[in-house]
Amino acid sequence: MSPETVVLISLWLIATLFGLIYLFLRWNFNYWSYFKVNGPKPDIYFGNLPSAVTKKRHVIYDIWNIYDVYKHTDYFVGIFKNRTPQLMILNPQMAKQIYVKDFKHFYDNEASTMVDEKVDFLFGNNPFSSSGEKWKQRRSEIVPGLTLNRIKAMFPITLEICKRMNVFIEGQIKNPSLEGTNAKDLTSRFMADIIADCIMGIQSDSFRDSNSPLLVLREKMFQYSPVYSIIVGLLPVIHKLKKMRFITKEYETYFVGLMETAINIRKAGTETKVRCDFLNYMLQLQQKKNLTNMEVCAHSMTFLLDGFETVSSILAHTLLMLARYPLIQQKLRQEITDKLGKNRDFGIIHELPYLNACIHESLRIFPVDFASTKICTEPIELINKNGTTFKVPRGMIVIIPKYPIMMDDEYYPDACEFQPERFLEDNGGIKQYFNKGLYWCYGDGPRICLGVTFGFVQIKAALVEILTKFKVKPNPKTRNDYTFDPTYFLARLKGGIFLDFEAI
Ligand code: HEM
Repeated sequence: MSPETVVLISLWLIATLFGLIYLFLRWNFNYWSYFKVNGPKPDIYFGNLPSAVTKKRHVIYDIWNIYDVYKHTDYFVGIFKNRTPQLMILNPQMAKQIYVKDFKHFYDNEASTMVDEKVDFLFGNNPFSSSGEKWKQRRSEIVPGLTLNRIKAMFPITLEICKRMNVFIEGQIKNPSLEGTNAKDLTSRFMADIIADCIMGIQSDSFRDSNSPLLVLREKMFQYSPVYSIIVGLLPVIHKLKKMRFITKEYETYFVGLMETAINIRKAGTETKVRCDFLNYMLQLQQKKNLTNMEVCAHSMTFLLDGFETVSSILAHTLLMLARYPLIQQKLRQEITDKLGKNRDFGIIHELPYLNACIHESLRIFPVDFASTKICTEPIELINKNGTTFKVPRGMIVIIPKYPIMMDDEYYPDACEFQPERFLEDNGGIKQYFNKGLYWCYGDGPRICLGVTFGFVQIKAALVEILTKFKVKPNPKTRNDYTFDPTYFLARLKGGIFLDFEAI
């Protein structure tokens, strides 16, 4: 064969290869027009959510753009995540219907398709990532351990930890740094001690020891492979063939060892007082249901996975919002002093109306998650605004854009403004938003967050202690907008939150 022929054949092969790749990337892009569902034109490589891959900005901004363009014309639109068609719901009532009335059609979270307990036992047994009957069972095992009475019984421990937090802040004031106090570091220490002590029955003092049990190895807890997620984006079938671990083997071994020590100490009964904490409940359940130690570990890990980041992040962002709005901070301080004084009554703290409103409002602006991804588990017909119908097929992912709904000026006038008053009972309370599918900070229906009361109690106790002793201001190192960190899957202010405390 002459060299010219070799070159020609090579060029032809390369052109054919590129042609095939092009066809492969595009072949199902007419999916939504075939079903007459509106939607934005996808990018050939990344579909409609390019930021999920490029991380140039947080992916919620891609979702938000689509929401803003179509919210007046459609109840739902069809989009592509990479090349996979997904349905995005834009109508709040329809979103609520999916969560509550039509729950049996949307039983599982997308997370359950990514995790396998054989590969990742601790995450695989978390209710959030569990599916079907296993979800029901895991959830029903945790819920009775988190009754208001049990949370109340753990409250003295919470108050002790709050006192240690205030000593830490006093230390920060005595030895000030130019960049102030790193709020997330502060609230992570707080939550590390809350979970260690209230949930696992382990003594720890994270305010003095940055190597306390739940802070050590934290940066080695998760593993994430961007390459794997790009490949899965292009070929979702890979998920079925190979599941990744989310929790590293190193962390799993460490955590299981920690829990086994805690269980052995508790079973040996060497502690002076009987503690009515979550471990106490878990050990009773272990006997009753013959749970393995690994299953008990998985339940405790649920607090670390679903409770640690959420609560520490909400507390840090609420402090930020109070720092940005000093008049609201003062109004809240006044409520605390008027209704509590030096008293630390659980019932009163739990019911403080303005405190409740401030947390809900901060959570609306900085929610823990921005959007839900539910799997259609039983096909269902949905009717769009123009009367056309679409039968959602089994296995399709349905996106609920919670954050764009909660930042929509039509539902929340001046949505970017921190206005806790909108959630006060005199103005209709949180229920009026919740019932209309406008408040999404802890889900809804049978999968509503099971730890939110526990979480709120910790946040309230911490805010009461901090605000009675200190004024809080934003340090100049903190940005003054709402830009989210694009590299993080939960809501987090880009660049971090730095605060200046001042003793009252
Ligand atoms: C106040 C703080 C918290 C907030 C705002 C919060 C928020 C959420 C949200 C948005 C979801 C997803 C609901 C959905 O859309 O399907 C969720 C689920 C969940 N949360 Fe929380 N969470 C908080 C604290 C906690 C804590 C302390 C725990 C500890 C056990 C926890 C455990 C869970 C679990 C297990 C699920 C999955 C429930 C299921 O699928 O059945 N959360 N949470």
